[in-house]
Amino acid sequence: MKFFIDTANLDQIREAKDLGVLDGVTTNPSLMAKEGISGHDRVMKHYVDICEIVQEGDVSAEVISTNYDEMIKEGEFLASLHPNIVVKVPMIKDGIKAIRYFTDHGIRTNCTLVFSAGQALLAAKAGASYVSPFIGRLDDISTDGLELIEQIRIIYDNYGFDTEILAASVRHPMHIVQCAEIGADVMTGPLSAIMALLKHPLTDSGLAQFLADHKKAAESNS
Ligand code: E4P
Repeated sequence: MKFFIDTANLDQIREAKDLGVLDGVTTNPSLMAKEGISGHDRVMKHYVDICEIVQEGDVSAEVISTNYDEMIKEGEFLASLHPNIVVKVPMIKDGIKAIRYFTDHGIRTNCTLVFSAGQALLAAKAGASYVSPFIGRLDDISTDGLELIEQIRIIYDNYGFDTEILAASVRHPMHIVQCAEIGADVMTGPLSAIMALLKHPLTDSGLAQFLADHKKAAESNS
């Protein structure tokens, strides 16, 4: 499973990259706003900065327009910024049309704001490179987000769709583990959820014991 980080914070992206497990980045307009990035030129430069940190992995950059013609213009510009840009398009009627256009013109897409298996099926039919079901936001409204990942996995496997399932709105380490069990192709979440995978109390106590024993042995031999 590929690990993407869901942020526009350059320090966090660098930290994930340094850890050696970063396969890509997803952003959205709210995440860009959170970093105080606004204005066309600054936003575009920020996408390029992210791509340069990630180097090898895909970086999702979201269109702001909601009508077909504007989405095409915006998406083509975003895709021209860097070869690793994936154009993120919302799951609306014009978005599906735009995904079909981008697919036919060799531009990769991430269909975002997906909350049902039917929406995921439509995104795959339009040729989306990635589909982003938001599992955390479903959990927030007492609906099982992971069940949606299972449904999409079955549907895509039934028909051999190439669209990658990008489990989004991941909130904690168990989301990551459960998505991996189900067979999501990618997960995107905060750096904190990835770092939490490191943690186990038996690892901490085991390491403390190993180091204490090593020190004791070294002292008794000196
Ligand atoms: C996906 O690409 C979205 O940016 C993201 O995962 C949304 O997550 P949130 O529900 O934590 O805002």
